[in-house]
Amino acid sequence: MLFPFIRRSLWIIPCLAMSVPSLVKAGEAKQAYKEREKAMESLKDEMSAIKKALKADKPATALEPAKKIEKITQNLPALFPEGSKVGHSEAKPEIWTNWAAFEKVAKNAAVKAADLVKAAESGDKTKLETAANEMGAACKACHKDYRGD
Ligand code: HEC
Repeated sequence: MLFPFIRRSLWIIPCLAMSVPSLVKAGEAKQAYKEREKAMESLKDEMSAIKKALKADKPATALEPAKKIEKITQNLPALFPEGSKVGHSEAKPEIWTNWAAFEKVAKNAAVKAADLVKAAESGDKTKLETAANEMGAACKACHKDYRGD
């Protein structure tokens, strides 16, 4: 009675093995897209917090949001694994056809975020305003080339 069982099991194993990888890939792609969306939404919220800090004339309160922006922008390319343009993603295929150029734009945003933290630490409103504008320009520069509408 053991043999028929083994023979059946041997058929089941290859069938599972064939269907699993594509499912896992699809799940990962969706997850990557979701995480990216969340990260981008946080960037938006933290930028608003910095604008509020400027309006309220409280540059020191921009430090926490600036640090969050710095943390997220340090690792932007990791949010864009190849194949993660799924669902309603607005990521343009150019991200992956010229990865080096994309990394450069991402790196620029990370540099501007580090400047933003420094400006917030200085407590100088004018410096913070300039740094926040440059940060905003870095977001826009990437969106212009790599985010569709
Ligand atoms: C290196 C490129 C790059 C940089 C820098 C960047 N973004 Fe994005 N952003 C994208 C791309 C690409 C998308 C579209 C992603 C998608 O839909 O899959 C996006 C999407 C978004 C979205 C929409 C998210 C959603 O709900 O679908 C917001 C909001 C956003 N970015 C805000 C920002 C802000 C604020 C900054 C700067 C602090 C910033 N981004 C910096 C590339 C970038």
